[in-house]
Amino acid sequence: MSDLLERLRAGLPPEALITDPDVTASYAHDMASFCEAGTPAVVVLPRTVEQVQHVMRTATALRVPVVPQGARTGLSGAANASDGCIVLSLVKMDRILEISPVDRIAVVEPGVVNAVLSRAVNEHGLYYPPDPSSWETCTIGGNIGTASGGLCCVKYGVTAEYVLGLEVVLADGRLLTTGRRTAKGVAGYDLTRLFVGSEGSLGIVVKAVLALKPQPPQQLVLAAEFPSAATACDAVCRIMERGHTPSLLELMDRTTVRAVNAMASMGLPETTEALLLCAFDTPDPSADLAAVGELCTAAGATEVVPADNPAESELLLQARRMSLTALETVKSATMIDDVCVPRSRLGAMLAGTAAIAEEYGLTIGVCAHAGDGNTHPVVCFDHQDPDESRRARESFDAIMALGLELGGTITGEHGVGVLKKEWLARELGETGVELQRSIKAAFDPLGLLNPGKLF
Ligand code: LAC
Ligand code: ZN
Repeated sequence: MSDLLERLRAGLPPEALITDPDVTASYAHDMASFCEAGTPAVVVLPRTVEQVQHVMRTATALRVPVVPQGARTGLSGAANASDGCIVLSLVKMDRILEISPVDRIAVVEPGVVNAVLSRAVNEHGLYYPPDPSSWETCTIGGNIGTASGGLCCVKYGVTAEYVLGLEVVLADGRLLTTGRRTAKGVAGYDLTRLFVGSEGSLGIVVKAVLALKPQPPQQLVLAAEFPSAATACDAVCRIMERGHTPSLLELMDRTTVRAVNAMASMGLPETTEALLLCAFDTPDPSADLAAVGELCTAAGATEVVPADNPAESELLLQARRMSLTALETVKSATMIDDVCVPRSRLGAMLAGTAAIAEEYGLTIGVCAHAGDGNTHPVVCFDHQDPDESRRARESFDAIMALGLELGGTITGEHGVGVLKKEWLARELGETGVELQRSIKAAFDPLGLLNPGKLF
């Protein structure tokens, strides 16, 4: 241990090292509940690429595991410390290095906060779409690590679509450059894409070239109330089938709506079984919303209310963004799922989830990126009740099994981390896991990078 600290100190300024156990403990885990977390030996906060290389060379020399971290807003335990590890927090590498309106790219360090980048590119008339609900605090490095999604993905796609190139410090300290800053590029295997969603298991991202879009007009939101989840899902299918391109298409069930109102008095309609939020950022959003409103009514909506102005729209988005936090207050504990199914199967997924809640005698609130078929069933339970806790765990597994049965994936955006590692093989199959392990070994032969995650 003292050898480790001594060697780290040799290449780092004193303020880059935290050893006080009370402070290092606060870096032990991300926001996922019920995921094991160990005790870090030290937390390192580098400011330069060279410092990250020094950390990795030291870790390799002494065979010490390294757990990379962003803002720890993750929901799968992928950023959780392991015993005796170096927590490598990239939050101090937070510079926006370049914004190019001609090339439509931004070059950033990993610790840049998503919302900070979004606002900075807006100043140039540009738009960085990926917008996880935690966008005000989460970092781009963390977004790359988990291939984050968000609310705008139904139109603009997820983080993977925006990462053009990377600089990565490998386990042994070498610096790798992947990808490009050009509009096109097909030179060799797409290592950039491989790093996106690799949960810190292949290398430490120290720089990213991100694609930007021209800033669209401000979106306008419509809220539609439905008498059942099934009718709301039918509306989603109609909207997509007709070729509409909403910039957001979200669903909140009755439990979620009530939880949000209880937490923040948002005045959402409590009698509705499912609230659908749909937005357009097109040149004439009112016309698009009117067309979608008709489709909602045809699918059975009892109430269709377009927001009058951007401020009202923003309020509805805030209500949606706080959904998972609000659901956490329903009982003493929650398990948050993020199963994604083909959107044509969304109705079946929600009906199946309701059946699982019934079978296990639990409250399972659901909000969903409905337009993506990406659901967040939130199992609410009393963690001091052993029987209820057991049922919660079992229902969580049943939800993933259902997602796979419907042709979906166990995780649409939160990642595998610790939370779902037993399920990865069920989705990928034996050969898939074998190959993924070989890829891991090629990048990290000593198994030092974020051990115990994914597999
Ligand atoms: C959301 C994040 C937590 O949808 O995935 O709110
Ligand atoms: Zn989500």
